[in-house]
Amino acid sequence: MLNRRNFLTAAVGVVAASGLAACAKEDDSSTGTSTSGGKKITLGFSQVGSESGWRSANTDSVKAAAKEAGYTLKFSDAQQKQENQISALRSYIAQKVDVIAFSPVVVTGWDAILKEAKAAKIPVVLTDRSVESDESLFVTLVGSDFTDEGRRAAKILEKVLETAGHKGKVKIAQLEGTTGAAPAIERAKGFKEIMDAEHKDDWEIVVTQTGDFTRAGGKQVMAAFLQSDPDINVLYAHNDDMGLGAIQAIEAAGKKPGKDILIVTVDGVKDGFIAMSEGKINAIVECNPLLGPQLMEVVQKVKDGETVERWIKTEESDFMQDQAKDALPTRKY
Ligand code: AHR
Repeated sequence: MLNRRNFLTAAVGVVAASGLAACAKEDDSSTGTSTSGGKKITLGFSQVGSESGWRSANTDSVKAAAKEAGYTLKFSDAQQKQENQISALRSYIAQKVDVIAFSPVVVTGWDAILKEAKAAKIPVVLTDRSVESDESLFVTLVGSDFTDEGRRAAKILEKVLETAGHKGKVKIAQLEGTTGAAPAIERAKGFKEIMDAEHKDDWEIVVTQTGDFTRAGGKQVMAAFLQSDPDINVLYAHNDDMGLGAIQAIEAAGKKPGKDILIVTVDGVKDGFIAMSEGKINAIVECNPLLGPQLMEVVQKVKDGETVERWIKTEESDFMQDQAKDALPTRKY
């Protein structure tokens, strides 16, 4: 995965990236799909699935931006399965697309297919999620800093506890994203980093389990949490959808979300903001899904043989409950 250390090795990566781009360009003339001949760029994009509101907004953004850029987009939905993504990538290689972009469902297991893309001289751009792989096998990552989102979630929880006038032990239930996915690993890591450094004595994660980034998963796992640990007073959900599912379980258990159980989620989709404006979510750490325009810019640069940064990060904000009503009308997703 990309971290601060390997971000500093950008120069090496950029050389690799431009090498890939240059190779792909040569190949384009024979495929007849490059802009060099005034023809459209063909982009093969493999999406994780349609597990959340964030994901739908991300898909819409990629499709709209590809149209706007005038690219031919080959799109596939992997339904949260790595084997489907690998098949999609292999099919894009066989079709000799100009650039492959994908949002990897999990961080491991990509080396072989990425080597196939490299051997076919097709540059690969990661969007949204990173991989644990040889960094010379992909050009760049366009997406968020998930570890920092985890840190931001812990810092905003401090504010939430203060605003609620909370006294005593903080017993946290954590709803994790898909097991092995970069946002699940890194959002947990960033949160724990702040918790261990600043709240060792008063905060404890009493239960933690995956809800697979889905509303149904969040509801089911939260119901089980409440049975096993009725003293939970905080929920940290790795995305809004799991938080929204958990709210249903909390209400079904006769408790008030946002009061009896303080809730911090990540994403900032409209439904999350609606729940926050109703007082059911206390704070949201934004993770911006509107990556399409940045992705298309990168694809163009790669095809033009320009250098790109190793990690193109997304700008994001944090929101407390009292900002929800004002922010809601201008939310774009
Ligand atoms: O990779 C981004 C995460 O994936 C979003 O936070 C979540 O909602 C989605 O499913």
